[in-house]
Amino acid sequence: MPLLTRRKFLAASAMAGGYAAGLGIAGRFGLAAPLPTQILKAHKTEAQLSDSGPTKNVLTYGDAGMPPTLRLTKGKPFAAQLINALDEPTTIHWHGLRIANNMDGVPFLTQPYVNAGESFDYAFTPPDAGTFWYHPHCNTLTQMGHGLTGVIVVENPDDPKFDGEVVLNLRDWRLGKDGQFIAQFLPRDAGKSGTFGTVRTANWMGEPQYDAPAGGLLRLRIAITDVTRIYRMNMEGADAAVIAIDGNPVPSRFPLDSLMLGPGQRVDLAVRMPDAEGAIAMLKDTRGTSPKTIATFRAVGSSLKRDLRDLTPLAENPVAKADVATARRISLALSATAESTAVDSICGSLGYSFWAINKVPWPGDTPDPTAPLAELKLGNSYILDLENLTPHVHPIHLHGMSFTVLASSTREVAPQVTDTYLINADEKVQLALVADNPGDWAFHCHIIEHQKTGMSGYLRVT
Ligand code: C2O
Ligand code: CU
Repeated sequence: MPLLTRRKFLAASAMAGGYAAGLGIAGRFGLAAPLPTQILKAHKTEAQLSDSGPTKNVLTYGDAGMPPTLRLTKGKPFAAQLINALDEPTTIHWHGLRIANNMDGVPFLTQPYVNAGESFDYAFTPPDAGTFWYHPHCNTLTQMGHGLTGVIVVENPDDPKFDGEVVLNLRDWRLGKDGQFIAQFLPRDAGKSGTFGTVRTANWMGEPQYDAPAGGLLRLRIAITDVTRIYRMNMEGADAAVIAIDGNPVPSRFPLDSLMLGPGQRVDLAVRMPDAEGAIAMLKDTRGTSPKTIATFRAVGSSLKRDLRDLTPLAENPVAKADVATARRISLALSATAESTAVDSICGSLGYSFWAINKVPWPGDTPDPTAPLAELKLGNSYILDLENLTPHVHPIHLHGMSFTVLASSTREVAPQVTDTYLINADEKVQLALVADNPGDWAFHCHIIEHQKTGMSGYLRVT
């Protein structure tokens, strides 16, 4: 159900506009006012997502439409109040942010449920700049599938200057021909690559178009917040350089060319807009049998004649470097399982178990979880030897700490700092980290059906 008839024309926020919207009066005039608490009210709404009229039972945070893009500043305190106006428990997880364990939003592992009608105050200071996102960690397939996925931009005031910025929240919806939700998953697909959405959107629109200065440098921040879909990204009609992946600068920039990114992942692109007024650049997903234009960018005004090489590098985030020589190794094997251990749990299980880590299928989020996958000593270095024994690709995500990709058995890898690694079938990869954040940290596949049918666990740092 493509939405080609419902194109939207939107202006790329000029940086000044973006800051003003994010910071309000105090920020605009540089006054040192305390940041107000961001209210995030999870509630039910309706939204125009397809050509078939409004979809009911959409979930969002905030007033109307898509969950707000949150603008934080590296090293500055942030506070948000989750108000649960759903009719079931929820929580918020701040994906990729290295914050204290009790703010991490995982039921039982880090905090109690936030029950219907209750609220919870989150407060933390983001140590890293980059593109991140937020979502519930309870009944996740339904809550995320129905809309609760939002983008977080953590600004670094020292970042290089762009001529415009666009943030894209990419996700699908499982809608029937009548525009209403259909079953969120099919068990036979959960045991394979997952159940795909039927309507694909960027910022809850079919194929939005954004204006950006001709010949200018556009910062494109993209978050894949879908529960299933893996993308292969390309840009047509403009040069695009990959400048950051999963919130962290790439070790060296490279042109966007069929970059594969899975659920949970983010990429920051520097796009050099075409010189000719009205020329259009197209961001495409070319993976699978139905390639799609994700969004388009129209050059406006006379050319600014910028050059991608003008851009100074992004500053590295302060992620500790593992001492590879002394690092202890931890083996983590992803596999299919026939062992059924799924237990009833409000937040945690789809009632099936298809997948396992180190042969143990996660039974669901319960007050009495299985043992940690490994116990790590605070301050020590570790290498995760992650192995994919399945014929499917898995975006594997660790909470609370970032790791560096060291080596892969099947491809050349850059020493990327990240929180999510998209592991191919039959691939073995080494991921290095310093266990510098105490707590129980969830470790799971971000294809939510895989996570919720067993491919989940946690690392304990004490
Ligand atoms: Cu996006 Cu458990 O995470
Ligand atoms: Cu998976």
